[in-house]
Amino acid sequence: MKFGFFDDKNREYVITNPRTPWPWINYLGNEDFFSLISNTAGGYTFYKDAKFRRITRYRYNNVPMDSGGKYFYIKDGDNIWSPGWKPCKTELDSYECRHGMNYTSIKGEKNGVTAEALYFVPLKTWAEVQKLTISNNSKDTKKLKIFSFLEWCLWNASSDMENFQRNFSTGEVEIEGSVIYHKTEYKERRDHFAFYSVNAPVQGYDTDRESFIGLYNGFDEPRVIVEGKPKNSVAHGWSPIASHYIEVELKPGESKDFIFVLGYVENKEDDKWETKNIINKKKAKETIAKFDTTAKVDSALADLRKYWDNLLSVYSIKSGDDKLDRIVNIWNQYQCMITFCFSRSASFFESGIGRGMGFRDSNQDLIGFVHQIPERARERIIDIASTQFPDGGCYHQYQPLNKRGNNDIGGGFNDDPLWLILGTVSYIKETGDFNILDEMVPFDNDMSVARSLFDHLTVSFDHVVNNLGPHGLPLIGRADWNDCLNLNCFSNDPNESFQTTENKTKGSKAESVMIAGLFVVYGRDYVELCMRTGKNKEAGRAQKYVNAMVDSVKKYGWDGEWFIRAYDYYGRKIGSNENEEGKIFIESNGWCTMAGIGKEEGLCVKALDAVKERLDCEHGIVLNNPAFTSYYIEYGEISSYPPGYKENAGVFCHNNPWIMIGETVAGNGNRAWEYYRKICPSYLEEISELHKTEPYVYAQMVAGKDAFKPGEAKNSWLTGTASWNFYAISQFILGIRPEYDGLLVDPCIPGDWKGFKVTRKFRGATYSIEVVNPDGKSRGIKEVIVDGKLSASNLIPVFGDRKEHFVKVVLG
Ligand code: BGC
Ligand code: NOJ
Repeated sequence: MKFGFFDDKNREYVITNPRTPWPWINYLGNEDFFSLISNTAGGYTFYKDAKFRRITRYRYNNVPMDSGGKYFYIKDGDNIWSPGWKPCKTELDSYECRHGMNYTSIKGEKNGVTAEALYFVPLKTWAEVQKLTISNNSKDTKKLKIFSFLEWCLWNASSDMENFQRNFSTGEVEIEGSVIYHKTEYKERRDHFAFYSVNAPVQGYDTDRESFIGLYNGFDEPRVIVEGKPKNSVAHGWSPIASHYIEVELKPGESKDFIFVLGYVENKEDDKWETKNIINKKKAKETIAKFDTTAKVDSALADLRKYWDNLLSVYSIKSGDDKLDRIVNIWNQYQCMITFCFSRSASFFESGIGRGMGFRDSNQDLIGFVHQIPERARERIIDIASTQFPDGGCYHQYQPLNKRGNNDIGGGFNDDPLWLILGTVSYIKETGDFNILDEMVPFDNDMSVARSLFDHLTVSFDHVVNNLGPHGLPLIGRADWNDCLNLNCFSNDPNESFQTTENKTKGSKAESVMIAGLFVVYGRDYVELCMRTGKNKEAGRAQKYVNAMVDSVKKYGWDGEWFIRAYDYYGRKIGSNENEEGKIFIESNGWCTMAGIGKEEGLCVKALDAVKERLDCEHGIVLNNPAFTSYYIEYGEISSYPPGYKENAGVFCHNNPWIMIGETVAGNGNRAWEYYRKICPSYLEEISELHKTEPYVYAQMVAGKDAFKPGEAKNSWLTGTASWNFYAISQFILGIRPEYDGLLVDPCIPGDWKGFKVTRKFRGATYSIEVVNPDGKSRGIKEVIVDGKLSASNLIPVFGDRKEHFVKVVLG
């Protein structure tokens, strides 16, 4: 069952039934100021950091689901309704929500009146603009009462939810004209406040929640709205809100726009006040003035659209299959931008208070957007590397507000450092900017111990070399990519977190074959980088370690039919036929086949066949099999999940592309594509009632074959799945891959594809690429024609001449 449709021309997903199986959300803003918004206008806003600078309040996992947001209430006679159906839930005559690129528009119609609310964060603006258009389509003059509503958060989203003995006494607001200012704690240690304005005179307002809603009412039935009269309440403590009240009369056919601005301001210490206790509103007024007419708002939206036209023009495909084109050209790239902005911090599954920017996550996210905004990727690489320690280890996460490593979570995840090589190499291949390697980057944000970024890569590489276990394989540390394979944790206390509790790493023999594969892939990249920068001696040194790792994997990481997953604390195999449960895992088989370890001896093909046989199911490739059915203290969180969910045999979509890429390394385009399609959301739109999460973005996990409800997805939006799937389809299946010396065209597609076209902007030129497949091949190049001339190579040179170049590649 579908709940809407894709409007590809406008790059929108249009939801036509508000009762989606889960709130289907969108993100506004892409730099400093952000909002999450659901298809019924639920959600919240923050500045940079969803934990420390939360602007509006939200209660997760609420009853009813997704309560609280930026609501408009229309009172037409006794009828009260909202354009997004919620919170009133008055049956609408029509409803439509359009989620687009960083904007959302929600339109409802009731008794001849339509209300359309457009929400977006204009470029370079610390504010969300809302344009509410009210139209009278009836034959009578309408006298309507309009109420806006949002609830302020007292800035720190975490203490806002728990420290009520203080919170209930701190709230402060100011009201001036049609603007409501939220200034809690501004008097003391804060240099910032928020405001909510409307570009029309108001006939009243409310800023105190209890006065507006009533203690025993819900968002669906605020007392003030039922009574039809605002109370002009001024909040003192308790829960401050912002609600404007506007009376409007519309003749038949008449329509009126109201522009609301929800903004954020920072003032310097000596510029905080207008007079005693009256805040300096200058910057707020400037922002409001920028968006006080429909023309200004429309032009800001047009700029945002242009911005996205430009970003999405870098890679686009024409395949003849709408489902593929829309995910590659629009939604997957959009999701990659969102994961870049938020890492794993704020979604409808991530509360915004738990996690900051992940070291491994942010590096992997980079491969999905570096082609769009290389300058910001560069900055991100430096930020991430700045949280590394001199020994190559690193903080697992950092807070976006201050860019400092997060001490609560700490470090010790032994895969983390290697991802910095992936991020850096991807950036250089995209841009050709080797200078980044010379940037001086601090350790643990301490500039006095800064070294070049290249040196950071060296210590990343060496962190593995210096932490090898008894089989010459990398020690796992706290965990590798799989946060739930906690081999040194041994937790029997339900009150401690598997993720942060003290680990027994001393004397541990726990080794990771996944990190081994990762090390071979990115170790080789490191070697190549050394050679390209004239460090031949270092290249030689590093190559030896890579070779040794290949040998160790072949010797101790091969189980006969597939690659084992790890050795546990005691040195016993995990992911081996010898195990009763968890005989085979996806991660090590993905990385070792991507690395091509034992390819000549046939190990890769065997491993991939074992994955197909034992891990593949209707909904994708599960993480492990058989699923764990009891708690293994020596394995940790992985065995805490019921079978089929999350890291315990869920279809963990993040790592499916590793197998897809492994299949392309083996030349098997049919299988790579089959796996791709299975988890690709645009192909799952028709089963939305089962899939549950948005059909326009990837979810982290789809319940696997052992689950109670196979096929049901969770954790949409913020997942490495976005970048890895884009990487797999764009660079390995379609095969358009940036290399240091040019753009490689090396597709690995299903044999029955006739071909496809890709437009790729790369280092200052446009490559119009046509791939044709007359002989029904999956892989192999018969002929390459560049600008009309036969070319000896499928590595198309860097032109950098701002011109368009035509490339034709014939498979065969
Ligand atoms: C989840 C993982 C996640 C980890 C760290 C675990 O509970 O299953 O997917 O990476 O927490 O937050
Ligand atoms: C989600 C985390 O964000 C990521 O870092 C981790 O690799 C996966 N879960 C697997 O556990």
